[in-house]
Formats: sequence, structure tokens, C-alpha cells
Amino acid sequence: MKTLVFYGSPLENSHTKVLLNAMLEELKGEIKFVDCYRANIAPCKDCKYCFKRQGCSIKDDMQETYAYIKECDAVIIATPMHFGTVSGPMLNVFTRLQSFWSSRHIRQEDAKDKIKEKYGALLVTTGGNWVNMELLMEGTVDFAFDHMETEQIGSVYAKETDNYPVKENEKALKKARYLAKRLNELCG
Ligand SMILES: Cc1cc2nc3c(=O)[nH]c(=O)nc-3n(C[C@H](O)[C@H](O)[C@H](O)COP(=O)(O)O)c2cc1C
Repeated sequence: MKTLVFYGSPLENSHTKVLLNAMLEELKGEIKFVDCYRANIAPCKDCKYCFKRQGCSIKDDMQETYAYIKECDAVIIATPMHFGTVSGPMLNVFTRLQSFWSSRHIRQEDAKDKIKEKYGALLVTTGGNWVNMELLMEGTVDFAFDHMETEQIGSVYAKETDNYPVKENEKALKKARYLAKRLNELCG
């Protein structure tokens, strides 16, 4: 089983990392980690290369990420909530998934740019807590999962981290472990 993790916190030791680690301790197989703040991955520059050709004109770390997206069995998106959605650098990385969208909808050659169908999970930490605070996040993540042919099996929101650190949030940690076990069952 191969899992791709997109990690969206600016901090290396973060609430999101605590939640992610609970999941990774249970998850079987190989993991590829994309640290969105530190990876050499530029945002899409709308050059329209992918309107005519497979892949992307920007030759950075996204190239090996594209290859892994095509072959992996699971995707985990782990991010703090920033401005109601994923962090900025994570959104930059996700804009590069546009090349898969172009294969499907513009060149209509998705058979040549085939992505293995897979399962995904979302892990989010938030400082606050308000009604419908998940809406923007779910919309963005739905886009990203859709571009990667990924069916989301569940999500964990560890909220109010300022007052309630993730390491003390046993309910959230338990759900993260549960989602890992479900991914093991579905992808193993
Ligand atoms: C730029 C920025 C924007 C944020 N926006 C939100 C937000 O929209 N809603 C919220 O509940 N918390 C927001 N927060 C708080 C973080 O989501 C919260 O502190 C989170 O647990 C940090 O996780 P980390 O330690 O994994 O980076 C924001 C924090 C930063 C730095």
C-alpha cells in the first residue's frame, strides 16, 4: 500500500503533525510526504502547456508527485485551517493538479494520463469553532481529491487548538487512528 501525504502547516512541530502522526502510526505500507511549505513546488502559472500536452512545463518537485499520484492507493490531506480553508502553500500545490484536469476535460486524453482510483482522508486543526466553519475547507479539498481520482472516506476536525491542544484531544486522535485502519482495509 502506497500513501501520499500533503502536509500544510508552516510549523514542523504542529497540532496538525500530532494528528497526522496518530494516523501514520497505524497506517501500513510506504509513505511519500509532501511538505507544502518546504517543498520546491511552484504554483500553476497558467502557461497552458497542459492544454496541448501531458504533464506540466514547471520542472520542480511536483513532477515526482505527479508520478506518485498516478500509482498510489491513498491520499491524506493534513492541514491547519487558514482563512477558512487549506494553508496558502498547500493551495499553491493543489493548483498544479490542474494538469490532470486538462488531461480529462481539455485534451480528453485521461486514458493516457491514467490515475489509479484511490481513497483519501482529511485531517484539519482549527484555532476557532463556528457554525459551518468546514464549508470552504470541504469545497477546496473536494476539488483536490476529485483531481486525484480520490474518494474521501472521512475527515477529522480537531478544533479550538488554542484552548484544547490536539495532543489532549483523544476523540480526534482516536478518529485519526480509525481512519488509518479503514484505509488499511480498503487499500491493503
Ligand atoms: C494565517 C492563519 C490563518 C488562520 N485562520 C484560521 C481560520 O480561518 N479559522 C480557525 O479556526 N483558525 C485559524 N487559524 C488558527 C489555526 O488554524 C490553528 O492555530 C491551528 O491549530 C494551527 O495548526 P498547526 O499547529 O498545525 O499549524 C489561523 C492561523 C493562521 C496562522
